[in-house]
Parts: sequence; C-alpha cells; structure tokens
Amino acid sequence: MKVGVLGAGTWGVALTIQLAANGHDVMLWSAIAKEIDALSADRNTIPNLPEAKLQECVALTKDLKEVCTGKDLIVFAVASPFVRSVAAKVKKFLPEGQRIVNVGKGIEEATLMTLTQVIAEENPTASVAVLSGPSHAEEVSRGIPTAIVVGSSNPETALLVQDAFMNDFFRIYTSSDVIGIELGGSLKNVIALAAGVVDGLGYGDNTKAALMTRGIAEITRLGVKMGGKQETFSGLSGVGDLIVTCTSTHSRNHNAGYYIGKGYTMEQAMNEVKQVVEGVFCAKAAKKLADKYQVSMPIVEEVNHVLFDGKNAREALSDLFGRHRTREYGD
Ligand SMILES: NC(=O)c1ccc[n+]([C@@H]2O[C@H](COP(=O)([O-])OP(=O)(O)OC[C@H]3O[C@@H](n4cnc5c(N)ncnc54)[C@H](O)[C@@H]3O)[C@@H](O)[C@H]2O)c1
Repeated sequence: MKVGVLGAGTWGVALTIQLAANGHDVMLWSAIAKEIDALSADRNTIPNLPEAKLQECVALTKDLKEVCTGKDLIVFAVASPFVRSVAAKVKKFLPEGQRIVNVGKGIEEATLMTLTQVIAEENPTASVAVLSGPSHAEEVSRGIPTAIVVGSSNPETALLVQDAFMNDFFRIYTSSDVIGIELGGSLKNVIALAAGVVDGLGYGDNTKAALMTRGIAEITRLGVKMGGKQETFSGLSGVGDLIVTCTSTHSRNHNAGYYIGKGYTMEQAMNEVKQVVEGVFCAKAAKKLADKYQVSMPIVEEVNHVLFDGKNAREALSDLFGRHRTREYGD
C-alpha cells in the first residue's frame, strides 16, 4: 500500500514506523518544517520516542502535494486545533473517493464537530475513518502489545485501515460506530485532566476510580444522545482509552491536570507539559455539547470552572461530592 502520513509529531512518527514495518511504502509530512528537518538529519533521535528509529525507506517531505499524490491511504495525525486548516489545504490534491483515516482526538470548539466530520466536510468525496483506543505512542513504538479500533461507515475502508496497521502486537478491531469512537476518544481527555488534578491534590486511588467511572457515565450519556452506541463506550475507544489516559504518566492531559492540582494556572501547566493539551480545548466543546443536548455532565462542568473561571480545584471536587444525593444509574 502507498500511504501518506500528515503530521510528524509523536503519534504520526510512531504510526509511520508501524506502517513501514508492515511493508508499506510510506511518506511522512509535517506543517512544522523543523520536525522534518530534525528527522532528515537524524532518524534515530525522535522526541518522546527514545528507543524508536525511523526506517530509511520512509520518505520525508514538506510538500503537501507530494504526500497527497497517488496514495491508497492518507493518515491524519495532526493536533486537533490544526485539523481544519490542513484538511482544507489537502482538498485540491486528493482524488475523489480518497480513503483517509483520522488518528487525532478532539472536537472543534467553534462547530462542535468531531475531527472526521471536519475532514469530511472539507473533503466531501473522501471516505473518512477514525482509528482510536488505548495507544500511547511511547509504547506502540517499543512493540508493546496494543489493541485499538477503526471505525468507518464504509466497511471496505475499515478493512483497508485494519489491514494497513495490524501486525503481531498491534491488533485492530473494526466498528461502524464512528461518532461513538470519536466522542469516547476526545471526551476522555477532559476526564484525564480531572484525574491529574486529583493526583496533584494528593487524593487517592478511590477518588480517581470514582472520577473515571462517573466520567465514562457522563461520556456515555452524551454519546448515546448524539447517536453513538452504548457498547462503544465500554469498548477500547471508551473505557479502554479512559483507563490508559487517566492512569499513565505518558498522558499530557493527565500531566497538565497534575500541575493544576499542584496550584499552577492553566497557562503555567500547559507550558510545563510543552505539548498541545487537547483536553483544555475539548473541555469547552464538551460543556457546549452538554448544554446543546441537555445532558448532565457535572465533571465536565467543574473542569471548565477550574480551567477558565479560576475556581480552586479542591473546592471543585468538594462541590462535585456535595451535589444532591442520587441513584447511580437511571435518573
Ligand atoms: N501521542 C500519542 O501517544 C497519541 C496516541 C493516540 C492518539 N493521539 C492523537 O494524535 C494526534 C497527534 O498527536 P501527536 O502527539 O503526534 O501531536 P503533536 O502535538 O506532536 O502534533 C502533531 C502534528 O500536528 C501538526 N501541528 C502542530 N502544531 C501545528 C501548527 N501550529 N500548525 C499546523 N500544524 C500543526 C504538525 O503536523 C504536528 O506534526 C492528537 O490528536 C492526539 O490526541 C496521540
């Protein structure tokens, strides 16, 4: 297969290494010239992936037309705030029916669209899939066994993506529930921020388990109202991704939350993490979705107060626990 990968950040590079190891002909592009320059100069020193090596057979380019031309599959590994602009720029280079897989996670704040919806809106003839689940690039690049899911409304596109990525330690399931997969993958970043705050405040495992369980309950309530399937939220892209993001030191969202729990402002925490903290962008979108679909999302609400209204994190947690008593499910 000929594959073009857009985005040479940690995830784009880790997936490029998988695709090349699976025998595909891969070309990697980034909007950030210095990412391509650094890889061209040294394929063995990759930021955040200390044990990884980018194979010599992988072509590197800064030319968007070149990476888009003649490819069986285009992989979108672009940080969520920049997906719309890249999707608009590729439009003139892609043939009708181009198969695209989005591997990013997030919701566009202005439109409340998921990233595959944004890509599809800019490229209406493309067949767009999503690949998501518990998969830290740091572990995938070391060959740590990992299972994730590809979602597409077109079963042939889902099978093509499964075929492209699957190998002995990278297991890819298929699904038709694109919206369910995307909402799980995006909204868990907000819960991961809250889990980081809980750790930063010095609370224990009980608190974090409560937050994660009630977090997936919120995500499921919203996701089902938006058309996702209930079972998707207990699958790899739902509870699976929530577990990995809330408990791992690799998670930038968890780490940003940790600093906020320690008393840093949101800006200070983002500077400390030095990567795009997508949960911060997603928190606002999640609150707007909760309001639009009239779904109760108390954790999302408190995360917004802490991030954007300067509310004290300990007070936010106390307010969550002080809410009216209620049934676990069904109210
Ligand atoms: N890192 C992981 O382990 C991992 C795992 C699963 C999914 N993801 C998702 O994959 C996506 C990419 O993750 P990443 O860790 O590689 O992200 P990243 O922050 O390293 O950025 C990836 C790419 O986004 C583009 N980008 C960044 N800033 C830009 C700008 N100012 N203008 C234009 N383009 C810009 C660049 O092409 C860059 O290579 C994210 O949505 C993330 O949630 C990441």
